[in-house]
Amino acid sequence: MAVRSGLAFVLLINTGVVTCHLEGEAPKKIAIIGAGIGGSSTAYFLRQKFGHNVGIDVYEKGTIGGRLATVTVNGQEYEIGGSVIHPLNLHMQEFVKQLGLKHRKGVPEKVAIFNGEHFVFEETDWYLQDLFKLWWRYGFGLLRLQMWVEEILEKFLRIYKYQAHGYAYSTVEEMMQSLGGERFINLTRRSMTETLQELGISQRFIDEIVTAVTRVNYGQSASIPAFVGAVAIAGVQAGLWAVEGGNKLVCSQMLESAKVNVIHTTVTSISLQQSGNKPLYQVKYESENEGGYDFYDIVIIATPLHHETTNITFNDFTPPFTPFPGHYQRIIVSVVHGYLNSSYFGFPDPKLFPFATILTVESAKLFMLSTGSICPVNITTNYRRKQPQEAAVWKVFSLKPLAKEELKTLFRSYYSVQVTDWLGYPQYQSGKGIPPIILHENLYYLNGIEWIASAMEMSAIAAKNMALLTFNRWNQHLDMIDQKDLVHKIKTEL
Ligand SMILES: Cc1cc2nc3c(=O)[nH]c(=O)nc-3n(C[C@H](O)[C@H](O)[C@H](O)COP(=O)(O)OP(=O)(O)OC[C@H]3O[C@@H](n4cnc5c(N)ncnc54)[C@H](O)[C@@H]3O)c2cc1C
Ligand SMILES: *[C@@H]1O[C@H](CO)[C@@H](O)[C@H](O)[C@H]1NC(C)=O
Ligand SMILES: *[C@@H]1O[C@H](CO)[C@@H](O)[C@H](O)[C@H]1NC(C)=O
Ligand SMILES: *[C@@H]1O[C@H](CO)[C@@H](O)[C@H](O)[C@H]1NC(C)=O
Ligand SMILES: *[C@@H]1O[C@H](CO)[C@@H](O)[C@H](O)[C@H]1NC(C)=O
Repeated sequence: MAVRSGLAFVLLINTGVVTCHLEGEAPKKIAIIGAGIGGSSTAYFLRQKFGHNVGIDVYEKGTIGGRLATVTVNGQEYEIGGSVIHPLNLHMQEFVKQLGLKHRKGVPEKVAIFNGEHFVFEETDWYLQDLFKLWWRYGFGLLRLQMWVEEILEKFLRIYKYQAHGYAYSTVEEMMQSLGGERFINLTRRSMTETLQELGISQRFIDEIVTAVTRVNYGQSASIPAFVGAVAIAGVQAGLWAVEGGNKLVCSQMLESAKVNVIHTTVTSISLQQSGNKPLYQVKYESENEGGYDFYDIVIIATPLHHETTNITFNDFTPPFTPFPGHYQRIIVSVVHGYLNSSYFGFPDPKLFPFATILTVESAKLFMLSTGSICPVNITTNYRRKQPQEAAVWKVFSLKPLAKEELKTLFRSYYSVQVTDWLGYPQYQSGKGIPPIILHENLYYLNGIEWIASAMEMSAIAAKNMALLTFNRWNQHLDMIDQKDLVHKIKTEL
């Protein structure tokens, strides 16, 4: 490798077009570590930006899809990780369209919020009645909350236009600043509770409705930062969808369409090797019985780099890297095939139990975050939800594995239980700022964006930014990075 660069350099000096050729020399090999939605969409966008000559290797130690995964119950698959997608998640929409996949629409359901003793909110068949109930109990909280989320979403949608024009950001903070100014940055630092209180939203509404939503989506209270809180609220809005056949199909099909080389092995270390004017990175890996290494011009890490989530070591970098501070939230997903114990929720007759999803508020009496009847990833046109007295497939979220007695409390009886123990998303209170994107000249990190909000679309946005950033930096298009005032610039460009 040293020879290649040295030779190129000599040739260039002789022809007298040093800068031009140095810029034009394309990267030969790129490594991506992790084949979740982040790594897979990075591969897809890199292929679009860098063309077909660059070799792209994607390392995956587990299964393709990462935190997008399914389990099989009775011959049908069910989502156990990232499951719902917002209608305005435009990258996810585009992937599904480009890959020829199909939308799987949600099946209507009724939701209730449980406090360990009784329901504090029950959805009915009557929309106006529900609104009236909410208004009566919480005042104008719901309306204010909706307007607040809409306003954030509207600004956030700017990212698609900026990315379509090829603009990239070197940090997550720059991206947020560009989308919504200092106000957006503040939303990642101040708590949801504090921010909503300032909007005049009642404590009761925060404790009952907002908390139920942050618990089911992030396993945490409403004291998480306001921005991720807004993403959680968007995650219960109307029009949510998923991918027919399972969300993880997006990952495998993107990797296939990008014609990358998927290597099923665990990356153990990344070391810096200097080579002429550009650094070269050695990626070492280890499988059950063999190990090896390879060299890359660009390396992109698409998996969380925190103490409990990774063992990858970094060698020969000065100053040395260590995992980022802050922890990932443990979240247990139990998929139970059985009969719900409706008595536990105050409905002795199971036939009369109308709810498919039960959310919860904070209470010492509760051992779960939520319980919901779920639909398989393939839905036929005549699919219907099970009647409440029938056996169904339920998904229970909890912070600790459910004890036998707890399962026996929640279910009258059951056929099977499948437990997945995730390190699901950042524990937002434990963070100390947002990790960087650029770790070294051509060594990058994707998952820092999870610290403003962890969601499939956030990883896809980070992935598109990654492809644009690596491309713009490699080709010295510095005017396409961290540009201020894009709102006005793009208007005049059009
Ligand atoms: C229970 C749960 C529910 C969720 N619900 C939703 C939802 O409804 N909607 C939504 O939008 N988001 C949801 N999310 C969040 C969403 O799933 C994640 O934000 C997203 O999937 C993260 O993708 P990623 O590619 O960045 O990371 P990951 O999916 O974690 O991918 C990282 C990959 O890297 C691999 N890897 C790690 N270390 C190495 C190594 N050393 N060598 C090789 N490979 C390695 C891992 O095996 C993994 O496959 C949910 C998450 C969880 C856990
Ligand atoms: C952001 O927060 C800082 C510090 O709390 C505050 O001084 C500033 O006014 C806030 N900016 C906006 C636009 O809300
Ligand atoms: C589920 O849907 C996917 C995507 O449409 C399809 O490829 C797969 O064959 C389907 N599986 C079943 C069991 O119907
Ligand atoms: C890191 O290595 C230790 C010791 O071998 C192991 O127990 C742990 O599970 C590993 N962590 C990850 C995230 O792979
Ligand atoms: C169901 O819930 C009730 C009320 O909490 C409880 O007394 C009972 O033991 C639970 N289990 C079954 C199998 O009914």
